[in-house]
Amino acid sequence: MDELHPLLASRWSPTAFDPSHETSEERVRLLLEAARWAPSAGNSQPWAFIVGRRGDSDHARLVRHLAPSSLRWAADADLLIANLSHRLVEGTDWAFSEFADYDLGQAVAHLTVQAHALGLHVRQFRSFDRDGLHREFGVPAHWQVTTMCAVGSALEPVAGTPLRERRDVSDLLWPAAERSLSAG
Ligand SMILES: Cc1cc2nc3c(=O)[nH]c(=O)nc-3n(C[C@H](O)[C@H](O)[C@H](O)COP(=O)(O)O)c2cc1C
Repeated sequence: MDELHPLLASRWSPTAFDPSHETSEERVRLLLEAARWAPSAGNSQPWAFIVGRRGDSDHARLVRHLAPSSLRWAADADLLIANLSHRLVEGTDWAFSEFADYDLGQAVAHLTVQAHALGLHVRQFRSFDRDGLHREFGVPAHWQVTTMCAVGSALEPVAGTPLRERRDVSDLLWPAAERSLSAG
């Protein structure tokens, strides 16, 4: 019988990373390669990444801007990645692409699944000081650090994939989807 691909079925987002794990440079390059091959509107590829590996200055600069909630676990991830979307045409308030965030999300999804294929784990997150990161890395107004990824080797759970809950497939279809979301 056909089934969900094991990479998708077994992926999960940890909140505890092995502080001694090291991701090789070759693997980092492969993660970016996976992001690179994501589809995007008009092939606009409106994404960029700031990558910090534990021990380098960018990792330390990224850690400095984690929110207290993510600092608890993300600082232990040996790779921290800031995910940037190219939102505006430089010097204007015109959208560079109406799909910039959507496309960045797909690129990060590719990176996430590739990481899992390598036996790594990723937690995407928003809990960081966006303005602080923009100042730290000189990100201009037409770009935005939209999310971050903590990447490394998960310490939890001790056995297997944790329980991950989702709405039922039948609740994804319109209009049932709207009813199931408003029912909470
Ligand atoms: C755009 C985005 C923002 C997120 N922000 C946070 C966050 O700030 N803090 C956090 O702990 N997890 C964050 N997460 C992780 C989600 O909570 C997690 O993916 C979700 O609970 C589903 O769990 P799973 O990835 O293990 O299936 C975020 C995920 C995404 C995609």
